[in-house]
Amino acid sequence: MTRLLPADAVEEAGALLRAGQLVAFPTETVYGLGADARNAAAVAAIYEAKGRPSFNPLISHFAEPEAAFEEVVPDERARLLARHFWPGPLTLVLPRSPRGQVSQLAGAGLETLAVRVPGHEQALAVLRAAGVPIAAPSANPSGGISPTSAQHVLDGLSGRIAAVLEGANCTVGVESTVLDLTGPIAVLLRPGAVTTEAIEALLGERIFRARETAAAPKSPGMLLSHYAPTLPVRINAVSVDEREALLAFGPPMRGAALTFQLSAPGDTTEAATRLFQGLRELDAQGQKLGLDCIAVMAIPMAGLGEAINDRLTRAAAPR
Ligand code: TXA
Ligand code: MG
Repeated sequence: MTRLLPADAVEEAGALLRAGQLVAFPTETVYGLGADARNAAAVAAIYEAKGRPSFNPLISHFAEPEAAFEEVVPDERARLLARHFWPGPLTLVLPRSPRGQVSQLAGAGLETLAVRVPGHEQALAVLRAAGVPIAAPSANPSGGISPTSAQHVLDGLSGRIAAVLEGANCTVGVESTVLDLTGPIAVLLRPGAVTTEAIEALLGERIFRARETAAAPKSPGMLLSHYAPTLPVRINAVSVDEREALLAFGPPMRGAALTFQLSAPGDTTEAATRLFQGLRELDAQGQKLGLDCIAVMAIPMAGLGEAINDRLTRAAAPR
């Protein structure tokens, strides 16, 4: 049962979020489906509730720019944009801070993180009450239309999330502008209410569209490509040897040089929370030991299995 919380129940919404529950809340753009971004199990529940077939990186939301800038490494451009457009419908993609607490899963295993301070009183009140970074994609089933009212959220997700906060309707109605600042040139990944012209005027430099950057001389490159391990990845392994690292799911196969267990009981939700961490650890240790590859046991397509397999298939693709 999904609870419909009255508009003033922001403390309760914050407490539910802190407790690892999913709560949809209004922002000035669209309703977000929030979860504690530090809590990988809560983030896995977002992907599950939305039925996302892959792990898209999520935006982390904060009540204050200072809190956002504890999770990422801002440059001068980011600070300037934040001063002018936050709180507001602008999302900045920046390198993750080594001190950050946002889970790997919330960032889909990327080295970068999208952060934003929404320009909506209720959203800010919920974020303050939660007191933790809140990962929030639009609160609709995957492939559906972004919701701009509590009723829209219930239409799509009723029974799949803990609560939805009633609220003032979203005034912008389309998702935030997403700007990538991880490279020397600023790249617009998604147009939104904060216009390219306004950003260019403030920064005094040209903003590139994502499709232009492939040809751009100083392309940051690999913009949306996910973290790929250095070691080759072999999926659906049915045996493993002492030259290999094993990413296990359920009872581990014997014979690997080292093993990382995704989920001993074979639970795809738990496996999702450990996937990126497991790939990173096996890659780092496997390289140190001079191993040949990372072998991955078969993972069923049930639940988050589809998203996990999507990610692993990319990691295993020829490079
Ligand atoms: O207005 C909004 O941004 C709404 C409200 C709820 O804040 N949220 C939203 O989230 O639209 P979502 O998950 O539907 O869209 C996030 C967008 C995606 O296009 C995603 O690829 C991009 O942001 N994104 C997130 N993290 C990224 C990263 N590290 N690098 C590149 N793109 C990223
Ligand atoms: Mg969306």
